[in-house]
Amino acid sequence: MSERSERRWHPRRACVFGAVLALAAGPAALAAPTTPSPPAGAGTAATAAPTPGGEQLYRQSCASCHGEQGRGSQRGPSLIGVGPASVDFQLSTGRMPIADEKPQPRRAEPVFSADEIAALVDHVASFGGGGPQIPQVAPGNLQAGRELFAANCAPCHGATGAGAPLTDGRTAPALYDATPVQVAEAVRVGPGLMPVFPSQVLTDQQVDDLATYVRRLRDERLDRGGNPLGRLGPLPEGVVAWIVTLGLLVTAARWLGRRAGQ
Ligand code: HEC
Ligand code: HEC
Repeated sequence: MSERSERRWHPRRACVFGAVLALAAGPAALAAPTTPSPPAGAGTAATAAPTPGGEQLYRQSCASCHGEQGRGSQRGPSLIGVGPASVDFQLSTGRMPIADEKPQPRRAEPVFSADEIAALVDHVASFGGGGPQIPQVAPGNLQAGRELFAANCAPCHGATGAGAPLTDGRTAPALYDATPVQVAEAVRVGPGLMPVFPSQVLTDQQVDDLATYVRRLRDERLDRGGNPLGRLGPLPEGVVAWIVTLGLLVTAARWLGRRAGQ
């Protein structure tokens, strides 16, 4: 386990301490008041023929923020030792490349093809430093996944996986679009404010269980026909429960009042 993951590992108390530590460890670039221009070539690389190699794609779309050799800059963190899983996660979820240093990269349509992503993963790996490999995911146990999710993930992502606000305008996103490999990558890499869960905390089998359960959350949400409550997260659900309780109390008071008036 790298020093980096030790520093960011807070499995249970993640919501309380993980956010604070991850913020402290986060890139100073986020505070820099620069007005950057979008990276040259981002989004257009796919149309060039023949397909450019990882080095060229990196120079066009990543180096302006992460540096020619991946050492980082004012605008983006070092990529040395983040590992193939992190690069694959950021590119396959369309988080990277970002046009400017927004507070939190969002999921979007990927800019690069699968081949281009693989080439970029290899190029960033050539900077050295190791880091987590792209996980192999197998079908897991649904019930075990349900319990692991409730204990480790629901505090931030909500019991239904609908996502919830965290701190500082950042959110734990909804999990309905994540593929099983992306779920496993997020667990091992800990993107943004999410803590890293190394294999001492969650075994590969447990990650398979989680990935299977997260898929089920998506199906359950579709079954509900996109029930809007499911998308609001824990706080509004609490508010709704409160309103329902209040409604019952008012009804009871009225009933008692009527009886008293009879
Ligand atoms: C406009 C600047 C910018 C560009 C261009 C950019 N990035 Fe980033 N990148 C960032 C910032 C800022 C972060 C930190 C985001 C956060 O707060 O989570 C980041 C995070 C990452 C991470 C996660 C690092 C970690 O510590 O886990 C990876 C991997 C990454 N970028 C890869 C890439 C690749 C590959 C490209 C090119 C295809 C790219 N980025 C283009 C600014 C940039
Ligand atoms: C401390 C809060 C926190 C905890 C606990 C947490 N996450 Fe996250 N998670 C986040 C945040 C924040 C992001 C967005 C990262 C970014 O800024 O790019 C995220 C992103 C993700 C994504 C990417 C979603 C997408 O579609 O792009 C997946 C998948 C994910 N988390 C799964 C999990 C699983 C599974 C667990 C439990 C093992 C977990 N998370 C625990 C905060 C958390």
